[in-house]
Amino acid sequence: MNIYFQGTNQRTFGTFPLTGDELRNAMMHAGEVGYRSFDTAQLYENEAETGEALADLGFARDEICVTTKVHPDNFNKETFLPSVEESLKKLKLDFVDVLLLHWPPADGDITLSLTLLEQAHKAGYARNIGVSNYTAQMMRDATKIIETPLVTNQVEFHPLLNQDILLAAATETGIPLSSYCSVARGEVFKHPIFAEIGAGYDKTAAQVVLRWILQKGVSINTMSTKRANIEANFNVMDFSLSSIDMARIDAMTQTGFRIVTSELVPWAPEWD
Ligand SMILES: NC(=O)c1ccc[n+]([C@@H]2O[C@H](COP(=O)([O-])OP(=O)(O)OC[C@H]3O[C@@H](n4cnc5c(N)ncnc54)[C@H](OP(=O)(O)O)[C@@H]3O)[C@@H](O)[C@H]2O)c1
Repeated sequence: MNIYFQGTNQRTFGTFPLTGDELRNAMMHAGEVGYRSFDTAQLYENEAETGEALADLGFARDEICVTTKVHPDNFNKETFLPSVEESLKKLKLDFVDVLLLHWPPADGDITLSLTLLEQAHKAGYARNIGVSNYTAQMMRDATKIIETPLVTNQVEFHPLLNQDILLAAATETGIPLSSYCSVARGEVFKHPIFAEIGAGYDKTAAQVVLRWILQKGVSINTMSTKRANIEANFNVMDFSLSSIDMARIDAMTQTGFRIVTSELVPWAPEWD
């Protein structure tokens, strides 16, 4: 079952780079407005605080969907499974709903980390497994390396970046995409087209951007510290962009704006 494409879990609340009261308040607001899917990572160093907030939200275990990601430093036989056990302890959970490999390894050889990920799944530490920041070729290779289906490749996805190669790989491999940097960390708001289109639907620029992502077949992962934005980002299921507006936004992907470059992140692969 691909939980990413079902109901509430099409919209995930991301926790990077939040910590402390900011994280707690944001998660409380997110829970109140309806989010049940939450995204953290070993790299974010906020799993324990995320676990505290989840416990305080008090949802039944089967109501929530919790994703965490294994740090590339743990892509070895010695520390992979212990690091996942540590994540579970911090999150106060017996299992996560989705366990991702946060990045491909620096040497590009994905076999060991995928095998260890599958072991974590078999050990019951994760209901589902997936990857993040994989290239199209890595998606294709992954399906030949392990048998367990990958439920997502979480990647940078917004209307200022053309990800058609990854979308085609998602169709080919059956590994759906999920987004991060969904509003390009605010860069989308420099382009008036999104607010202009939104006016026709009584929606904000951010809602138009997120709706476009959903209509590309990609589940969304957003982060905000502000209640109004958190609520707006969740409320994107009650309208549909027309094919004309989808095409106008598709044209914006020629902007070629990428947040996560190899200068920012040392593990970044050669992007498609
Ligand atoms: N797998 C990976 O490698 C990876 C990489 C990066 C991120 N992620 C995940 O994806 C999540 C989201 O990505 P991101 O936080 O990097 O980028 P993002 O969602 O594109 O940008 C977040 C920024 O956009 C603003 N924003 C959000 N909604 C808004 C709205 N409706 N109106 C106006 N401004 C809005 C927020 O400001 P305010 O607080 O002022 O609203 C925040 O500063 C992260 O939290 C993390 O969980 C994963």
